[in-house]
Amino acid sequence: AGRLSNNDSFDSSALTAHNVPYPSINNPQAVKPVPFQQPTGLLTFSYTPQRVLEFTNSALRYYIDPPPGADLRYGYERWIKRPEERTRLDGLLRAVERVMQKADSSAGRGSGVKWLRDIAVVTWRGIMTKILTAPYEERDRCEFNVMYVDRTLYIEEHLSEARLAEKEDLPPKQRVQTYYGYSFESWCTSSRPGVPERIEGHPVGWGGDVDTNVQWCSVIKTKLGDNRLVIGGEVDCVRGRFDGRTDTFVELKTSMAIRNAGDEARFEKKLLKFYMQSFLLGVPEVVVGFRTPAGRLTTTQTFKTIQIPRLVRGKPGAWDPQICFSWGHHFLNTLKSIVSAPAEASEGGDGSGTPREPSKRVWRVVLAPGDGVRVSLLDDEGIRDVEAGEDRVGILPRWYYDQVAG
Ligand code: A3P
Ligand code: MG
Ligand code: MG
Repeated sequence: AGRLSNNDSFDSSALTAHNVPYPSINNPQAVKPVPFQQPTGLLTFSYTPQRVLEFTNSALRYYIDPPPGADLRYGYERWIKRPEERTRLDGLLRAVERVMQKADSSAGRGSGVKWLRDIAVVTWRGIMTKILTAPYEERDRCEFNVMYVDRTLYIEEHLSEARLAEKEDLPPKQRVQTYYGYSFESWCTSSRPGVPERIEGHPVGWGGDVDTNVQWCSVIKTKLGDNRLVIGGEVDCVRGRFDGRTDTFVELKTSMAIRNAGDEARFEKKLLKFYMQSFLLGVPEVVVGFRTPAGRLTTTQTFKTIQIPRLVRGKPGAWDPQICFSWGHHFLNTLKSIVSAPAEASEGGDGSGTPREPSKRVWRVVLAPGDGVRVSLLDDEGIRDVEAGEDRVGILPRWYYDQVAG
């Protein structure tokens, strides 16, 4: 605490800017534990190779042990790479709409909207992971857009044009390394449980050429302290079967083989992200494929998600999930109080002094490594950028906004 005061990267002159410092990560014993409820699956959906969202399990894959020494560079030239773009909430919102429709038809008209009103946050898993691990983040700054509509926060990632271009034009070496992760997914999955894939013209066990358009996603509900969350995210595969619950989900990860104490400490730091990413969707198991720099698989190791925190306790790269949950709870409550405050006349985004309707306001949240979070109100130009000329109200598609805006 107090670190913000001597940091000039925040513009504290803006009337509508608020700073929320991170907690100290040095004294986990001092934090008040905030419970995180076991996630329950609401529904799943798939993106097809044409990037069409469908409420099927067409993209569901089954875990299978990868062949020993598998070549993670295999198929690199045939990678169908989804272009980098700003990931909007639209797919997740279609899932939320579907959950609401189900509530309406089982419990009567209006039940869906009533259910949604009790949800504090709707967002993607990747965003929630970044928020919760922010006190430990040393490198990457990230930005979000936030709206508060009918008592629910909607959070999407904001990528600047520069950041998008950077992600699209990765240096070749980094691009190959990214591919290793996807290729591992192919080697570790099959279209049928327990049976390695046999595709003509490819080695046994190759799950098929990588197409990053295709994704299987799960939407869950959970609770952090008193905040109910609806979170969507990609699930790499399941072990054995899928029956609507999250307890067979498997997360796949690659990492450089560990050769010395430094590597081990770096890996233990990475485990925080593996842990949080998996924990948030209720994924009980993480399979890590260790590889050489050239992409040769050396070993695989299975981690039970809930046991990961114990592995790092007292080690050089130690972290404590309670710091993250307690911070997340504090951050969400602070964010809610900021965005639900009545608009001030000075906020007239069009310069006329007429404040934007609270549910149409868009907030920019910046997570700065080592400092804390800055929350500020977007002006009309910022909102135009966020709407990107599409039929939107701020970050939300109009078809959705019209259904949920009270
Ligand atoms: P690895 O995590 O094994 O390196 P996910 O693990 O979330 O299922 O993502 C699959 C792969 O997508 C990752 O494999 C990595 O190659 C790539 N990827 C995911 N998030 C990324 C990020 N923020 N930056 C770069 N690559 C990323
Ligand atoms: Mg994945
Ligand atoms: Mg993965």
